[in-house]
Amino acid sequence: MSPSIDKSPIELITTRRSVVAANMTDPGPSDDELNTIIAAGVRVPDHGRIGPWRIQIIRKDAQAKLGALYGKLFKEDNPDAPDDLVEFNRDRPSRSPILLAITFHPDPERYVKVPHSEQILSCGALCQNILNGAHAMGFVAQWLTEWPAYHAEVKNALGHAAETEIVGFIHIGSATDAPQERKRVGAESVVSEWAG
Ligand SMILES: Cc1cc2nc3c(=O)[nH]c(=O)nc-3n(C[C@H](O)[C@H](O)[C@H](O)COP(=O)(O)O)c2cc1C
Repeated sequence: MSPSIDKSPIELITTRRSVVAANMTDPGPSDDELNTIIAAGVRVPDHGRIGPWRIQIIRKDAQAKLGALYGKLFKEDNPDAPDDLVEFNRDRPSRSPILLAITFHPDPERYVKVPHSEQILSCGALCQNILNGAHAMGFVAQWLTEWPAYHAEVKNALGHAAETEIVGFIHIGSATDAPQERKRVGAESVVSEWAG
């Protein structure tokens, strides 16, 4: 996939849009391309150089393993769910060539100078940089949480402690169909002048 070199940086940022993971297909980024996208991700404002974020790359085999866990957990939590819904949940991680799990690892000892909110904002900025990086490289992406981000056993299976938060799963791939534009909160409804 070639980078979106026909667009200026500002055009890239102002035209980015998510493609739903269900509409993703191959190719995903190569290892080099993924490294570039992740480099964009970590180039993020980070007050106090805490680096309170981690990125796990989940490729196809691991996606299937994670999906097996999702299916099991979903069935346990929803014993009356029909098989096709269990199957849908088992397939959740496998919708894209590359899945990233982004986790937030706060450092409470730094809260006096860098409050929890600033640390998690840096983590959100990292996610957004990954979305823009993927878009700039000619791929599509979607940032999802869904129920698995809030399930303790998913966090545990990914190897994280209880105080770690999964802030998102980012799917990256190519679009089966060009995404339609959606209604957005426009600048005109959120921007005002403050003149003292
Ligand atoms: C933290 C976070 C979690 C999200 N989780 C979900 C989700 O679980 N399901 C979903 O459909 N969209 C979720 N979204 C929204 C999508 O990432 C995306 O913004 C939406 O599909 C609209 O696309 P756009 O990026 O083109 O505006 C989430 C967004 C954020 C910032």
